[in-house]
Amino acid sequence: MDLTEHSFLQVFFIVLWIMMPAYLSNTFAVITGGKFPIDQGKIHSDGNRILGDGKTWSGLIGGTIGGVVIGYLQINHGNIFIDRIANSESYNFWGGNPLAIIFLLAFGALLGDMAASFFKRRKKLNRGDKSPLLDMFDFIGMALFLTLVFDPLWLKSWILDGYAPLFTLLVATPILHRGVNIIGYKLGIKNEPW
Ligand code: CTP
Ligand code: MG
Repeated sequence: MDLTEHSFLQVFFIVLWIMMPAYLSNTFAVITGGKFPIDQGKIHSDGNRILGDGKTWSGLIGGTIGGVVIGYLQINHGNIFIDRIANSESYNFWGGNPLAIIFLLAFGALLGDMAASFFKRRKKLNRGDKSPLLDMFDFIGMALFLTLVFDPLWLKSWILDGYAPLFTLLVATPILHRGVNIIGYKLGIKNEPW
């Protein structure tokens, strides 16, 4: 099964479904995060923190585990949600080694988020400062890059197959990213609504 058997709208939901571990890993990082800064408080030669206090081991590890758990639940119990939309017989959209892909999506998202913080600090932006484009696409970019390195055929069959998946990611990512963060902000988990 691949995307060619599905309508545009189905592809839209399938792609979001596939990327869920990447979308949600940062939310878990916000919950578990805050302890043991990855840069250990170190200052870069430009006088600013290497990454800042917003990137911690507790966030990286907790976020990765959270994203993997989401993916695991999707594979094993996801049929309730994806059944009607995808109209497919398999609930596994993550290829022959699904947990590995799910891990790479969750971990890659946080790695991308870390890389973005590095660039934000170099631009003298403080922890939590806005950097709209970077904040919105850093995590998706790195998540997909890791799956590209690990299993390019999987990526090609699901995400690089025609324009629909990329269109989905381009349009839905900013909305989802902002939406999730606003919810986290209202719930008092997150310090900023972006
Ligand atoms: N977090 C963490 N470790 C991570 C990622 C996130 O501890 N690897 C936690 C931090 O408490 C962080 C919060 O989640 O403040 C929100 O994450 P994010 O928006 O990515 O960080 P910012 O605080 O905005 O910092 P930056 O400016 O570096 O992006
Ligand atoms: Mg932020």
